[in-house]
Amino acid sequence: MSAQPLRIGIHDISFATAHQVLDLSEIAEHSGVDVGKFYVGIGQSEMSMPAADEDIVTMGAEAAARILDRHGAEGIRTLLFATESGIDQSKSAGVFVHGLLGMGENCRVVELKQACYSATAALQFALGVVARDPREKVLVIASDVARYALDSSGEPTQGAAAVAFLVTVDPGLVEIEPVTGLHTDDIHDFWRPNHLSTALVDGKYSLAAYLRSLEGAWNEYQSRGGVPFEAIDRFCYHQPFTKMAVKAHDRLNTIVGSPLDRDQRRAQIEASLHINRRTGNSYTASIYAGLLSLLNDDGTGDGAADGADLAGRRIGFFSYGSGSVSEFFTGVVQPGYRALLRADEDAAVLDDRVSIDYARYRALHESVDEVRGEDILTAAETSGPFRFAGITDQMRQYQRRG
Ligand code: CAA
Repeated sequence: MSAQPLRIGIHDISFATAHQVLDLSEIAEHSGVDVGKFYVGIGQSEMSMPAADEDIVTMGAEAAARILDRHGAEGIRTLLFATESGIDQSKSAGVFVHGLLGMGENCRVVELKQACYSATAALQFALGVVARDPREKVLVIASDVARYALDSSGEPTQGAAAVAFLVTVDPGLVEIEPVTGLHTDDIHDFWRPNHLSTALVDGKYSLAAYLRSLEGAWNEYQSRGGVPFEAIDRFCYHQPFTKMAVKAHDRLNTIVGSPLDRDQRRAQIEASLHINRRTGNSYTASIYAGLLSLLNDDGTGDGAADGADLAGRRIGFFSYGSGSVSEFFTGVVQPGYRALLRADEDAAVLDDRVSIDYARYRALHESVDEVRGEDILTAAETSGPFRFAGITDQMRQYQRRG
């Protein structure tokens, strides 16, 4: 008798964001643009804005701490930290998190980069680690701060967030299925040279590149025996802004010749848009913030969609990282998943952010480029569980509160 294939996937997922928030009406007012362009046109209402004592490490540690509080760190021998807003050219941001969370020393920790795609690479690598030895548990952290130049077209699509998830056998939330479709193309649609703290982007070209990559990844997914479009119940896209997911899903419907009308198509993605609409772009974390948003939707609360019980339903994922690399894959939501979620806590993460005005946002944005390698002590501006305390002798210092 042949052995049953292992069921591997996401066992737990958690989210954190910066502790300050800017309503996009502030940017609209400053730039004399109708706010409908942001609220409706790109589908964004707010952006999370890190204070001086927050970064990808503090957000990543906060998201991961919720997972370790529930499961402990025992058995986690791999920590993969996905980001495109790295804080050191050599040391992985994950090693800082490993230290802050007091994880065991018998652990491999590494940082991954390929624009907004790398958390999906981390997921695939984690599946491989667990397939090789089912005793393994892999902690994946995706954390990013999206920054564009002030007064640029990308400015309203900035944001910040981290998502952490645990990959194990017999997952409680989503079993990831084996077939994937890949697409890579050496282009410059969005990139960030080492000397810049803000991204460069060819806006309209980047939209076209995203959609072309979706087609390429979908076609390969099909050619490798992927399930047909009709066998997928919900879709979760990389969301640089939520309207991009709407455009992508419309494109996929066109590619497959789907008969679904506008409302039916929208119903397949609506629940995945809620968190990103309020955090702004979180680059590599955004698709997994979309997954959490989708799983959390029970038909109640802010931004609720249809609240359908997704147990046994299949989700299609499209992960896109400019430059560009993308992947289409699927996962099946597990029975009992709702009992493992933290929907109220996740809502509080968004609701408890402190609102800032345009002047404060602009000062914070400009202050990032003032840090040039000298020692600094950062003011304690936010009340999160972890903080970036400053730089001493070129070494970043982090603290855990309480
Ligand atoms: N009310 C309602 N809608 C309005 C409006 C109003 N008053 N005014 C304008 N709009 C609509 C427009 O019709 C348009 O909608 P459609 O795209 O559906 O036609 C939408 O608002 C945006 O308007 P514009 O296209 O004129 O906006 P823009 O040129 O200023 O910039 C952008 C749009 C190119 C996306 C820009 O925000 C940008 O450069 N963003 C960063 C790049 C990006 O996110 N690219 C996505 C693909 S790359 C990727 O995914 C990787 C990544 O994370 C960056």
